[in-house]
Amino acid sequence: MRIIERVDQLQECLAQYNNVGFVPTMGALHNGHLELAKQARKECEIVVVSVFVNPTQFNDKRDLERYPRTLDADAKLLESVGVDFVFAPTVEQIYPDEQKYVIEDESILPLTAVMEGAHRPGHFDGVVQVVGRLFDIVNPHKAYFGLKDYQQLAIIRKMVEVQNRSVEIVPCDIVRAEDGLALSSRNSLLTLQQRAVAPLIYRELIQIREKIDAGNHDYSKLVRDAILQINKNEYLCVQYIEVVDAVSLQEPAENKTVRVCAAVMCGDVRLIDNV
Ligand code: PAF
Repeated sequence: MRIIERVDQLQECLAQYNNVGFVPTMGALHNGHLELAKQARKECEIVVVSVFVNPTQFNDKRDLERYPRTLDADAKLLESVGVDFVFAPTVEQIYPDEQKYVIEDESILPLTAVMEGAHRPGHFDGVVQVVGRLFDIVNPHKAYFGLKDYQQLAIIRKMVEVQNRSVEIVPCDIVRAEDGLALSSRNSLLTLQQRAVAPLIYRELIQIREKIDAGNHDYSKLVRDAILQINKNEYLCVQYIEVVDAVSLQEPAENKTVRVCAAVMCGDVRLIDNV
């Protein structure tokens, strides 16, 4: 496995391959990321994982500053699952000029305006910008994204569609700890007490799912009850829980498949999850 910092070097290494699998990450890797890399390993000739903490997607400067950076440990993990190249560029390599990858197409706006987009202004502009740039650099045939960032996945799919890119987007299941907490790089920032109560988020989402499956479509009440339960805990404070159309992320019409999405502050760590 090689660790590469420069765009030109990576492109030189990849030039001879035509089945490149790509996993974009911001590092601080956990088993969720490794599952993406393992799936890419099974399906592709060459696997590239990028490790880049993208400054343009952090609406909160403090969040950017304290985002865990663990490249040495990340590289060991990636080597253990057979990754070929770790692309760990500097900010200058990714953004050599002010070029933006903002999508003009209006069809993406409804996806970026809700949930995470409403609570983290500019976040998805940064995500679309960096993923567009990384796709241009790596030119992958398949790119792997976790379902934990459900809204991000929907936006990336839309981006690929409106920009007419040939990359296939492969969604991968959420990986959870034994107690149900969705794995996230931010979990390492939780105190022991916060970590102990964080699985309540998933338990409440499951409750909502079970009730919807049983025919209860009073989404506002289901959400209200779950928020009450979660907020009873001194370490937890819900930012939103929403039941949305699984594709459009808007208010669901009758008989449409829905996704239940949540963002909850656990102390000052922001956790997201969905079912
Ligand atoms: O999901 C993430 O870790 C990031 O948003 C991504 C896709 C690597 C872009 O920086």
